[in-house]
Amino acid sequence: MSSSVLAGVPRRMLVTSALPYANGPIHIGHLIEYVQTDIWVRAMRMHGHEVYYVCADDTHGTPVMLRAQFEEIKPCQLIQRVWHEHKRDFNYFGISFDNYYSTDSDENRVLSETIFTTLYNRGLIAVRDIEQAYDPIKKMFLPDRFIKGNCPRCGEKDQYGDNCEACGSIYQTTELVKPYSVLSGVTPVNKTSTHYFFKLSDPLCETFLRGWVGQLAQKEATNKMLEWLSEGGDAKLADWDITRDAPYFGFEIPGSPGKYFYVWLDAPVGYYASFKNLCDRHGLNFDEWVRPESTTEQYHFIGKDILYFHTLFWPAMLKFSGYRTPTNVFAHGFLTVEGKKMSKSRGTFISANSYITTGLDPQWLRYYFATKLNSTMGDIDLNFDDFRARVNSDLLGKYVNIASRTATFLVKGFNACVLDSAMNHQLLIQLRTAIPAIATYYESREYGRAVRQVMVLANAVNAYIDEAKPWRQAKDLNHSIALHETCSISLEGFRLLTLALKPVLPKLAESVERFLSIEPLTWADVTVPLSSMRPIRPYQDLMRRIEPQQINKLLLANQ
Ligand code: MSP
Ligand code: ZN
Repeated sequence: MSSSVLAGVPRRMLVTSALPYANGPIHIGHLIEYVQTDIWVRAMRMHGHEVYYVCADDTHGTPVMLRAQFEEIKPCQLIQRVWHEHKRDFNYFGISFDNYYSTDSDENRVLSETIFTTLYNRGLIAVRDIEQAYDPIKKMFLPDRFIKGNCPRCGEKDQYGDNCEACGSIYQTTELVKPYSVLSGVTPVNKTSTHYFFKLSDPLCETFLRGWVGQLAQKEATNKMLEWLSEGGDAKLADWDITRDAPYFGFEIPGSPGKYFYVWLDAPVGYYASFKNLCDRHGLNFDEWVRPESTTEQYHFIGKDILYFHTLFWPAMLKFSGYRTPTNVFAHGFLTVEGKKMSKSRGTFISANSYITTGLDPQWLRYYFATKLNSTMGDIDLNFDDFRARVNSDLLGKYVNIASRTATFLVKGFNACVLDSAMNHQLLIQLRTAIPAIATYYESREYGRAVRQVMVLANAVNAYIDEAKPWRQAKDLNHSIALHETCSISLEGFRLLTLALKPVLPKLAESVERFLSIEPLTWADVTVPLSSMRPIRPYQDLMRRIEPQQINKLLLANQ
């Protein structure tokens, strides 16, 4: 087996997941992303790399402001409460952030201001007057989603500003007939305001982005970007409006009272703010990680809906304000439930919290998502029958079963010690040889492939046990050595399968490490077999089965 694949040179990486909005709970759609990133981060840590996984709540913007108004509390009270809820949910699902911070922080204010000022001084910020819809009662500019009216094509009432749900036509907000503000019901008026724009149309930006696109790992993402870069035929990137007028919950723009940074300006900066906060607390050198010539790696996991922000705005902001740019951006697809968009009425808009309170095991979902995840932007479907089958027949029937079938014989008959001379059996060599490839599947985000491969190996171990028949060997005193060998090989096989599943099932792996009396497993432990020097402990149930009524309970809780 090539151990060099596993050892390699230690790398230094900063990894992020997108920052969830602070105006709502974490749901299973979000969890796809945090589970995907967490599996990757854990697989990287198991190589011995220096990995920092940071995230934060995305706190600014109109929805948070309005939500706080509605609840009659201050925005800062709202975001504090939500932060605790999000943190609780992430902990429960085993998401191993090194720091979970907030975009409403001093670090983020300073970094956002610095980036803006640098861009400004480099001539990459334009100042322009624009006309926007304004609610004279609420005294605020109205984002498009806050304006409704009659469809200009078919006349249907109460349609949003960009498309009609009745006839499907697409139009501009200004075309709406009898437009009204969703907030006050009055007709919006047009009002002029001075805004700052990030000049993405500047040839500097365009040239840079055309080069940067080349390093993206995903073909689909690259193609999307090339499309954006050449929209309108002659490569026109539109300048990006980064200003919002008061009232707004966010950071005021330095020197421009009543003007705020648009939430999407300070949100990605929030990655760095969270990391800066971690660095300051742990004595790490932040600059070493973010300066242009840094040899560290920087990865952003995101959903495909926010690709634009992460492959155009964010790299350009970093590049022209004197920072390094991301090593890569990894986008995943959207979660559907039973083939459809998550829906409140069907009870499939499942919150992480309801999953907790109805008593489901988070590792089931981690495993299921892993079987479905790959490196593409394709959507991912949660099908409950499939969910139960994968967990009950793969995880329990194939994997956990190996330990429950053999551990008791070893404990009762052999003082809980393995037979050292059995540790180089052909079956074990087969498993050890297969694991480096599994480790690389994780790195390339082909988790489905990784766990399928693990299940192929689990099948091989089960076939070996079926053939050896330990339950028969146990009845025959002459077969004592054979039984000892069977159990030792099976449990070493179980150890290797646990190692291969550890990024997906960290809690289960921890229980197994206790059960087998071994140190926390890393990839290098492929070659460190169980030893008679360390007796195992009595087998205890490692995981429950999914019962059908649990799914019904979950759906009911979300209706
Ligand atoms: N706040 C922004 C991200 C700012 S990053 C600088 C945001 N927040 S979000 O709460 O709407 O989404 C957080 C992440 O979850 C995004 O990457 C988004 O794509 C992902 N998902 C949200 N709903 C999802 C599904 N139904 N399925 C898969 N991913 C989903 O966007
Ligand atoms: Zn219409």
